[in-house]
Amino acid sequence: MNALVSFLLVVGLVLIAAAGTGAAGLQTLFGVVVPYVAILVFLLGFVRRIVIWARAPVPFRIPTTAGQQKALDFLPYQPLENPPGAGTTFLRMVLEVLCFRSLFRNTRAEMREGPRLVYASRKWLWLGGLVFHWAFLLIVLRHLRFFTEPVPGFAEALERVDGFFEVLLPELYVTDLAILVALTYLVLRRFLSPPVRYISQAADYFPLFLIVGVVLSGAYLRYLSRTDIVAVKALGMGLLSFHPDPAALRGVGAQFYVHLFLVCTLIAYFPFSKLMHLGGVFLSPTRNLANTNRLTRHVNPWNPPLKGRTFEDWMEDFKEEIAQAGYKLERD
Ligand code: HEM
Repeated sequence: MNALVSFLLVVGLVLIAAAGTGAAGLQTLFGVVVPYVAILVFLLGFVRRIVIWARAPVPFRIPTTAGQQKALDFLPYQPLENPPGAGTTFLRMVLEVLCFRSLFRNTRAEMREGPRLVYASRKWLWLGGLVFHWAFLLIVLRHLRFFTEPVPGFAEALERVDGFFEVLLPELYVTDLAILVALTYLVLRRFLSPPVRYISQAADYFPLFLIVGVVLSGAYLRYLSRTDIVAVKALGMGLLSFHPDPAALRGVGAQFYVHLFLVCTLIAYFPFSKLMHLGGVFLSPTRNLANTNRLTRHVNPWNPPLKGRTFEDWMEDFKEEIAQAGYKLERD
């Protein structure tokens, strides 16, 4: 049900954009107003989320540890699994963000005949996730050519490398193939794995289907419908310079607006969805803190001020009882 609703929502978005720019002729709405609103919602929503997270108190060091902590000199320790300082924490974060290191560790427990508990290493999710994210990033970077003149050298180089297969015309990008394979795996995993299906919500299916929609509509533009790239670039640069070009708006077909509308929905939805893990990973205290729990004494800042009682105070309180019992107070 969750999957069906999410799927229908994405189909609905496609139809809205196709009808809006085809029959209704609302090019200015879909080509100017919607992109600006989407970016505004994205920026405000993103900043709001980050501020909320950044203001959350983190009184203790709670990094995820997966190895021996730095302690006595003669004990070997694992700096990446249990980083003791800023440098090692930074390195671990870089490896996490670029290589999804903690997902690589992914293991699964299964009850086999016997009964026997078996732990197995699962690398498919790591591979599928990594390929999807890298391909997505490279595709977005390649899109810079629609917004810049001259196109940055790295974006051009990326395009050359990405199209090195030189099959199809226009040539097939490896990243397009990679993202489609990875997305297929990610969708099938949600459908075919009973435990994953059980915990999957509409908030899991919707962004996945939306991204599939973005990629398929983009691929359609490139490989099947052959959009007028010059008009797209005029539109992109016009939007960026806050001078949208009316001729460019009319120069691109409804297929392009479907792609753009799905992208705008993704951008506007981003700050309110699980996709915010993009910003969250950097603010997660399980990742961005060094483990100095043995090196430094951490005092809970919320402890009430401690009013202690000394031995002197105690002797003063009970001096009569102590004298009656026949004991001699040490201070006498
Ligand atoms: C989240 C952002 C976006 C994603 C993930 C995305 C994804 C894709 C993909 C996978 C393709 C297939 C060909 C390729 O890889 O270049 C494509 C093509 C295309 N996209 Fe996007 N897109 C995004 C944003 C945009 C935006 C904002 C525009 C508006 C300028 C746009 C315009 C186009 C056009 C015109 C094509 C056809 C390219 C060609 O014929 O070479 N895309 N997109």
